[in-house]
Amino acid sequence: MAHLNWTPDLETGIREIDGQHKRIVEYINQLYDARTSHDRAGVGAVIDEAVDYTLSHFAFEEALMVDAGYMYSGPHKKVHELFTRKVGDYRLRFEAGEDVADELHAMLSRWLFNHIRNDDKSYADAVKVYMKNRGQSEGSVKDQIKEELIRELHLKKKRGFFARLFGGSE
Ligand SMILES: [Fe+2]
Ligand SMILES: [Fe+2]
Repeated sequence: MAHLNWTPDLETGIREIDGQHKRIVEYINQLYDARTSHDRAGVGAVIDEAVDYTLSHFAFEEALMVDAGYMYSGPHKKVHELFTRKVGDYRLRFEAGEDVADELHAMLSRWLFNHIRNDDKSYADAVKVYMKNRGQSEGSVKDQIKEELIRELHLKKKRGFFARLFGGSE
């Protein structure tokens, strides 16, 4: 398996979400590059950044789904949790000295596109209707979610977290 390529069928039609998904694809491709260069420190750094960014994305996505009243928000969160646990296990194995890069790269590649196509695309309509009904521009929905996440995170790691999700405008 080589680099992942973004294809139009992965678009949810929600600009912010699509942008975040593309960033995750970039991280997975960075992991591919780091593993082919046999750079252990590089692999560790990419795993950390990829996990960090993906968790931020999950928080954003979950806030958006809940606000939109999407009926399967609960099960969707569960899927995110299971994935987070699975990646955490890889991180532990890596720290214990195991070479997990190939296996992790393959798992991430499979998981992400499957998840976007089957789970993320399912909430897209509800979110788009919600945005339209509120008569809000995407920008104001973004601001609203940002406020909610600030409350939820109790300002913890705020700068890094929002810089990652909102393109460094923090
Ligand atoms: Fe998701
Ligand atoms: Fe997603």
